[in-house]
Amino acid sequence: GVNPREVAERVVESGALEGVASELEIAGPGFVNVTFAPEFLSAQLDAVASDNRLGVAEADRPLTVVVDYSAPNVAKEMHVGHLRSTVIGDCLVRVMGFLGHDVIRENHIGDWGRPFGMLIEHLLDLGEDVAAAGLTQGDLDGFDKEANAKFTESEEFQERARERVVLLQRGDAETTRLWQRLVEMSTAYFNAVYSKLGVLLTDDDLAGESMYQPMMDATVERLDEAGLLVEDDGARVVFPPGFENRDGDPLPLIIQARTGGFNYPTSDLTCVIDRVERLHADLMLYVIGAPQAQHLQMVWKVCEMAGWLAPPTEAVHVSFGNVLGDDRKMLRSRSGDSVRLVDLLDEAIERAGTAIREKNPDLDGDERARVARMIGIGAVKYADLSTDRVKDYVFDFDRMLAFEGNTGPYLQYAHARICSIFRREGVDRSSVRAVPIELVEPQERALALQLLAFPTAVDAVLENYQPHKLCTYVFELATAFSAFYEHCRIKGSPEPTYSSRLALSDLTARVLERALGLLGIDAPEQM
Ligand code: ARG
Repeated sequence: GVNPREVAERVVESGALEGVASELEIAGPGFVNVTFAPEFLSAQLDAVASDNRLGVAEADRPLTVVVDYSAPNVAKEMHVGHLRSTVIGDCLVRVMGFLGHDVIRENHIGDWGRPFGMLIEHLLDLGEDVAAAGLTQGDLDGFDKEANAKFTESEEFQERARERVVLLQRGDAETTRLWQRLVEMSTAYFNAVYSKLGVLLTDDDLAGESMYQPMMDATVERLDEAGLLVEDDGARVVFPPGFENRDGDPLPLIIQARTGGFNYPTSDLTCVIDRVERLHADLMLYVIGAPQAQHLQMVWKVCEMAGWLAPPTEAVHVSFGNVLGDDRKMLRSRSGDSVRLVDLLDEAIERAGTAIREKNPDLDGDERARVARMIGIGAVKYADLSTDRVKDYVFDFDRMLAFEGNTGPYLQYAHARICSIFRREGVDRSSVRAVPIELVEPQERALALQLLAFPTAVDAVLENYQPHKLCTYVFELATAFSAFYEHCRIKGSPEPTYSSRLALSDLTARVLERALGLLGIDAPEQM
C-alpha cells in the first residue's frame, strides 16, 4: 500500500547495497538505477578467475535427462536434418552435463521395420563385400534407391523381401546376421561422420528401434489391459483424444499392423516406458525435426493415458526448422538429390583451409589442417546453433565462414587473438590468473559485466532448450573484448594496469573457450 517512489527511497536508504553499488538513483515512478561499484565488480571477477567453472554453479537438483538425438536410419544417407539434430542435441548434452545433470545420450537409429526385408535381399544380390565397400563409405542413398527400384520393378524381388521380413521378425539366424552386417556398415559410416563433426556420440549410445522389439509384446499387452487398444481394419490401434485427420475423423496411433508387425509409434511408446521405468528419467528431450511433432504428441498422449508418463516426469520436443539452399528451398545438390552430410563438412573444411592459407601463410601444413578442421566444422555448427532452432536457415558457406560478423570463425579468432597477445608479450597465461583486475575505462567495465553474465547465459540455454542464447552471449563477449582491445592499451602500459589488462584478457579467453566448448566448437590458439 505504499507509494512506489517511497518504496524506492526506502530501498536506497536501507544501505542494503552498500559495497555493491557506487551510485543509486531513483527514477520515474519508483525505479532504482544501480551502478555497480568498481571494487565490487573487480572482486566478483577475481572470484570467477580463480574458479575452474568460471562462476557457473552446478544445479541444486541434478536431474536424470535422456537426450534422444541424431537418429539417422540404417542404409540411408544422413541428411541435413540429422545434422541439425546431432549438433543441437550435442550442445544440450554438453550444457546439461556441465550443470551437473546426469545425462544419458540415446541415438534412436532407424534399424528395424519392413524395409529391411528389401535391404537384406539387395545386400545378398550385391554380395556382402561389394555392399560393405559402398555402405561404409557413405554411398547409402544409392543402396537404398537401388533396393527401392528393384522392389517397384520386380515381383520376384517383392516376394523375397516379404519373406525376408518374416524371417527377420522370427529371429532366423542367417537373416539376423545379415541384418547385423547392414547395421554395422551403417554405424561405421555414422561414426565417421560423428568423429568428423566432433560430437560425443559413441556406439554405447546406440538405442535403435530394434532394441525395443523384444519389449513390444509387453507394451501391447499393457495397452490392452488399460483398455486402450481398438481393432481398426485388422490393425490394432489407439485413438488418443484431440487428434483428427483432415476430414475431422479421429486419428489412430497404429500399434500393430494387420501383418502382425509393430510400427514406429510402438517403438516410441516402448522407448518411453524404458526411459521412465529402467533409466528413471526425469526429463526426456527429443531433438527431432518439426514434421514429427504430431507423432510425438500422439505417443506421449497415449503414454499419459496408459499411466506411463506423468508429472513431474516431462517429455519435450526440441523441434527445429529446415536447412535451405540459397534459393530458399530445401537444400539440394546440383543434381537435385539431397545433399550428403559428409560432402558439406568436407567442403567447409576445405574452404577454411584456403582462407587460412591466405591469411596466415606461416602456419605449417599439419597445424593448418588441424585448424582448418576446427574452423570448418565450427562454422557449420555455429551457423546451425546461432539461429533460433525453430526457424529455417539458409546454408551459406560464404556467410558462415566469414571472419567478421556473428560467425564461428569470428569467435574463434577472438580467442586466438588473445592467445597471440600473450605469445607476443612473452607472458605465460597462467601467471596472470591471480592478478587483481582493476576496472577504470568504460570498455573494461563493459567487458567485466559481460564476463560476469556467463552463468546467466548458460542457464538461458535450458529455459527453452535454445543454444542460440549462448551464441548471442559469446558474440557479445567477443564484441566487448574487441572494444576493450581497441581502446585500452596493453603493450607498454605501466603496472598495475599492464598485468590487470592481461588478466582481463586471459579471463575473456577462458570464458570464450568454455562457451564455445559448450556449443561443441573448438577454440584454436592460432588461426
Ligand atoms: N530415425 C528417425 C528419422 O530419421 C528419427 C528418430 C527420432 N527419435 C525417436 N525417438 N523417434 O526421422
